Amino acid sequence: MYIQEHEVQKVGNEIMNMLHEDELEVINNFYEAVKSKDIEKIDELFKTLIAEIEVHFKTEEDMMEQSGYADIGMHKSDHDVMRKKLAKFQKRWDVLKGPKEVLNFLDKDFKKWYTGHVSKWDVSAATHLG
Ligand SMILES: [Fe+2]
Ligand SMILES: [Fe+2]
Repeated sequence: MYIQEHEVQKVGNEIMNMLHEDELEVINNFYEAVKSKDIEKIDELFKTLIAEIEVHFKTEEDMMEQSGYADIGMHKSDHDVMRKKLAKFQKRWDVLKGPKEVLNFLDKDFKKWYTGHVSKWDVSAATHLG
């Protein structure tokens, strides 16, 4: 398993916890496909992952906006950093079909970002949202 449930901190908002839990399954399935170099499965799950992440980020951003959360700008910028990286790696994947590059990104960058983002930005936003 790539990211275990206990590695993603629980936050003080149930909608956000649900978004993270649902997404974790997709993330872990994607990781397995990349690790086993299953080209067709990676093709399919890359799209699913990006769609799931977009729903996750957008839902949080909408909730923060509606509640007038002051740090929405910084939180959204951190989402945007990952949106851009995912778009870049998907674009490269579509051309190169290189699982090694994707695996490297997942091992060296994505997991650290994801767990760190939840612990820092999501925890803070959730405390405000309740
Ligand atoms: Fe989140
Ligand atoms: Fe977030």
